[in-house]
Amino acid sequence: MEIINGIFSSPGKGLRGKLLTLAAGGEEKVVQFPQLRVLASGIEILHLATLIHDDLLDRGEVRRGRPAVWRKWGDKTAVIIGDYLFATAYLMINASSGERGMSRVNLLIKEMVEAELEEEKEKFRKISFKRYISRIEKKTARFFQVVCELGAEVALFPREICLGLGEFGRQLGTAYQLFDDLLDLIGEGNNIGKPVFQDLRNGVLTLPLLLIAKQPVFNKVLDQVKADGKVKPGVQKKIKSLLIEERVPKHIWGLIDEYRRRAKKQIKELGLPHGSLLIAFADRFLSGEPFKN
Ligand code: FPP
Ligand code: MG
Repeated sequence: MEIINGIFSSPGKGLRGKLLTLAAGGEEKVVQFPQLRVLASGIEILHLATLIHDDLLDRGEVRRGRPAVWRKWGDKTAVIIGDYLFATAYLMINASSGERGMSRVNLLIKEMVEAELEEEKEKFRKISFKRYISRIEKKTARFFQVVCELGAEVALFPREICLGLGEFGRQLGTAYQLFDDLLDLIGEGNNIGKPVFQDLRNGVLTLPLLLIAKQPVFNKVLDQVKADGKVKPGVQKKIKSLLIEERVPKHIWGLIDEYRRRAKKQIKELGLPHGSLLIAFADRFLSGEPFKN
């Protein structure tokens, strides 16, 4: 109980739950379809379960500004608590969105696990842009897609609207992971609530790193990280200056803007009464503000 209380005392941004409610049409729809609240909570708990397992696999020591579950309670407890939350989320999602929702969520988790396996298999490998995008789609964007689709489905929107909202979520989720991968390299640990340079330490070459991978010094940096098993301050400094020299943050921000533009266009085309709420969410979501806790 103490462990569970500890986990829920730093609840995170709750982006997926909020997005689900908005895609369904906002508070008014939550009153009309109270199961939306159960579904939104189930989705947040599912996300939490994946993070607990992810931190264990990545050896990420801090999450949401607190010690990760494995760091505080040990590996075994992290596996068990992740499984426990996972099962709880399943029950809640099943109760609120039925068989159809469950099969969508199952497919999503299958893809997430595939992406995790790909990362592990392709450690320190300079993958293509296409492969990177496909990986972040499976890892993150599909989650946002399913969140929007299910929220709209429970609120009884027609099929084509649910799919259109799902497409909005997919674009937004891609932008989110692009931002997250950039912050891992140029963010401040105390602002983003988790340590920086975790991706590189784990051999995950994200887009900012792939964009400097042709620099002659990059292979040396990789060898050093492999040998040290960590990214020492000197290496961090070198990477940061390469990123700035090559104008990588600017390039990634351009891409984020492009995905946000596509997301908003999608919403405008659907012509929904709650479209403006979703557009405002998309703008706020990528302003950097949600990344501060
Ligand atoms: C975060 O990526 C990780 C994910 C989005 C997916 C993690 C999925 C699993 C561990 C498998 C599924 C687990 C269950 C319980 C179903 P990241 O490491 O890039 O993000 P971070 O920087 O926030 O750690
Ligand atoms: Mg991680």
